[in-house]
Amino acid sequence: LSLEQTVSRSALVELEGVVLIEPVHRTFDQVQKFKARPDDLLIATYAKAGTTWTQEIVDMIQQNGDVEKCRRDTTCKRQPFLEWSFQNPPSARYSGLELAEAMPSPRTIKTHLPVQLVPPSFWEQNCKVIYVARNAKDNLVSYYHFHRMNKGMPEPGTWDEFVEKFMNGKVLWGSWYDHVKGWWKAKDKHRILYLFYEDMKENPKQEIQKIVKFLEKDINEEVLNKIVYNTSFEIMKENPMANYTKDFEGIMDHSISPFMRKGAVGDWKNYFTVAQNEKFDEDYKKKMADTSLVFRMEL
Ligand code: A3P
Repeated sequence: LSLEQTVSRSALVELEGVVLIEPVHRTFDQVQKFKARPDDLLIATYAKAGTTWTQEIVDMIQQNGDVEKCRRDTTCKRQPFLEWSFQNPPSARYSGLELAEAMPSPRTIKTHLPVQLVPPSFWEQNCKVIYVARNAKDNLVSYYHFHRMNKGMPEPGTWDEFVEKFMNGKVLWGSWYDHVKGWWKAKDKHRILYLFYEDMKENPKQEIQKIVKFLEKDINEEVLNKIVYNTSFEIMKENPMANYTKDFEGIMDHSISPFMRKGAVGDWKNYFTVAQNEKFDEDYKKKMADTSLVFRMEL
């Protein structure tokens, strides 16, 4: 039996204008009641912006560069994906909420929620947050391939259809535009370190140092270099505890498109037609007119 035959794709549901999938929507009220602790660290992103990469960097900093410790479990078990709830098939069963609640402090928690849907206790407890944003076009391309390989996601449709859905915010976690702008605004009120995938790619050492400083850690040059090396795309692609080959079996099919796909800036040029690109740019200008946020689409 192929995956298509055994796993049915989730339906989309809208919550306060944000598109979620049914299993996540079902547990949303419980997630809202989540009790954050003051020393929780939240890693927030729009899906496919470099979450797993940032999670690995953070864990390596917290473990002072100990590679073995960082391989104690898979990414989504080491750092619970707060709102992710999936019951079927059993091979893909997951409850981020249960994992987080059972975890001793200090916890690092992942979320893809737009800022306005983050459980209020994170703000009440003044938790630190690392937000990572990636340019819209590369983020879209990565998301398209992720939809293809992950049966936990809704059907992407054709490439052209997916571009439209992304532009209209009719994809899981809602509008990319609102997500990056919302978190950008929030950083003036809360303890948020706002990072960019493109900067991380261009100068990983410098961006890792920003995270070290934000976490108020002290690591030496040797450990820093070790972290740069072990969190490179090439190494993470081969790391079974970070490349999602050990999680969500029967849901993710890496033969369609690997989770660790390209890890590059500017891959969108291989997908957007000239017409699509023009239309996208025109729409982008309108949607991003009310923000000081600027992205680099190439390096
Ligand atoms: P691509 O599909 O463009 O390759 P997320 O973790 O938020 O789901 O993001 C996944 C994207 O980050 C994928 O992008 C993946 O390849 C990329 N990625 C993962 N680890 C990376 C690393 N160490 N360096 C650069 N990109 C990485």
